[in-house]
Amino acid sequence: MCGIVGYIGDQEAYPILIKGLHRLEYRGYDSAGISLINNKGELNVYKAKGKVSALEKSVEGKDISGTIGIAHTRWATHGEPNTTNAHPHFSQSKNLSLVHNGIIENYKPLRTELEKNGMTFCSETDTEVLVQLVEFMMVSHKCDLYNAVQLALKNVVGAYAIAILEKSHPDQIVCARKGSPLIIGVGKDKTSGRPEFYIGSDATPIIEYTNQVIYLNDEEIAIMNRAGLLDITNLSNVKQTPQLVTLQMNLDQLEKGGYPHFMLKEIWEQPDALRTCIRGRIDKAEKDVLLSGIIDHRDKFINCRRIIICACGTSWHSALIGKYFIEEACQIPVEVEYASEFRYRNPVIHPDDIVIAVSQSGETADTLAAIQLAKEKGAFLYGICNVIGSSIPRATHSGTYLHVGPEIGVASTKAFTGQVITLCLLGLAIAKEKKTLSNEMFHMLVDELQQIPDKIQWTLENNKNIDQFAQMFTYCKNFIYLGRGYNYPVALEGALKLKEISYIHAEGYPAAEMKHGPIALIDEEMPVVVIAPKHGMYEKVVSNIQEIKSRKGKIISVITEDDTVVKNMSDYSFVIPDTRDCFVPLLAVIPLQLLSYYVAIAKGRNVDQPRNLAKSVTVE
Ligand code: F6R
Repeated sequence: MCGIVGYIGDQEAYPILIKGLHRLEYRGYDSAGISLINNKGELNVYKAKGKVSALEKSVEGKDISGTIGIAHTRWATHGEPNTTNAHPHFSQSKNLSLVHNGIIENYKPLRTELEKNGMTFCSETDTEVLVQLVEFMMVSHKCDLYNAVQLALKNVVGAYAIAILEKSHPDQIVCARKGSPLIIGVGKDKTSGRPEFYIGSDATPIIEYTNQVIYLNDEEIAIMNRAGLLDITNLSNVKQTPQLVTLQMNLDQLEKGGYPHFMLKEIWEQPDALRTCIRGRIDKAEKDVLLSGIIDHRDKFINCRRIIICACGTSWHSALIGKYFIEEACQIPVEVEYASEFRYRNPVIHPDDIVIAVSQSGETADTLAAIQLAKEKGAFLYGICNVIGSSIPRATHSGTYLHVGPEIGVASTKAFTGQVITLCLLGLAIAKEKKTLSNEMFHMLVDELQQIPDKIQWTLENNKNIDQFAQMFTYCKNFIYLGRGYNYPVALEGALKLKEISYIHAEGYPAAEMKHGPIALIDEEMPVVVIAPKHGMYEKVVSNIQEIKSRKGKIISVITEDDTVVKNMSDYSFVIPDTRDCFVPLLAVIPLQLLSYYVAIAKGRNVDQPRNLAKSVTVE
């Protein structure tokens, strides 16, 4: 939530910052702002309500010169989304401007204290308190910006990633983080060869210019200047040694590549993304699974008494599928917890429990807090994340990256299938060590898992007319999604996809739960999406369909390609190829992703940036 970008070097900062804000817009789009110091030493701040494009319009004809600047795209927490509450915020003397991602929990008492000392505030934000506090420290302790930031942050409770400009020192940027991500890119100007620095909430605004980055750690403060100096200390002023990391990402992954939306691109990219996810983890010749995270901690996994998976949203749905698979393959009890609930209970955790965090962004505040709690209680932590170098992988003992490439569309698609595959690989790797599957079954599952990317490609190719079909459902106010066993979480995921981007109310249920209440909702107006592959509980799902049909509900089914029985009972069907029961979710979710996409398009929604949502939920 909220994106930060910064630049200092020889180039004009404005184009770099605006491009960076566009790349970070998935993190929030309530307002945007920019701050630049021009060559006359003036510190300018421009802000606009709404998207980055509104900011671009608002600065037309204004002085946007300067080779140093910071910028911000906001997902509102404290104070409504308007221009006053937009970042950057000035300090009282207008000597400082600051951008912030996170939440300052004790901002109220801090504000009261500052007001007592004569400081006045323009906005309702916690961020303005921070910049005023820094200025207050500079004045009251007669110290420089760097030391003032250290002093200020010692008084702050909460999460922050910040970047600050100082008018009277136009050759430096100070930044810091705790609980919210911040990356520094280290580059060289192409013409002058002189050093330049970039700042980003993630690598996406940086990768175009340099692949050399430093991930700032919690409670670290950095200062960088035009001469190429980069100093990092912690809050106690102890010097830290920065570790330069080479990013494994390319620019093409951040572009739409000819698709109208990132979401559609990411849906179609799934076969290739999942081939990359599997690559190096399945030995095709030996039909074996090689997960270094398991090999390195073999005893932990063999002896573990219970696995607890903590996640939120779509990642929680993939975790449920992981539970079914791991329990079946490894005979280990698995609990799936909403991270936001887990962190505020007093959960019973034993030293022989393994807690797995599943998170695309690796930054979700609740998931991070849940594993921190589990760590305090002595659990072994394993992370399954997509964003490399993000906070969760850095906080866990071991883990696996999805390697499905950056996911920009706010509605998660390829990360979901990547998480399901990774959880299945994890289950297979543990089962192999524990010998809970016969060799024959193990090899059959490994073999089938390898074929999933091709089968997803088939599913995409054979459901191309969903766009025409989706038009019919734009008038609907409600949808129900049903599935059983492995496909119950798919029903939840299909419903979530529809509601988050089309704003149509949708609920997912285990199909057999219908008769315990929700069946009362069924009438001729109600579309019911049923995931009904020819597997395990097929006959029972067919009965559930009959129950809906006899109440005049409209049936949209996801069926195995040769199933004429359910096809004939349905108003519309999406086809998937046959696979093992446990891998059906990876195929069945594809038409549901497309359905939600095309219904949202038909309703004229902004699918990549749905209202009120942000990609990375770094606040609780
Ligand atoms: C839905 C969606 C969200 C995320 C949730 C967790 O499409 O994207 O529900 O799944 O906010 O995010 P991560 O996986 O980054 O922890």
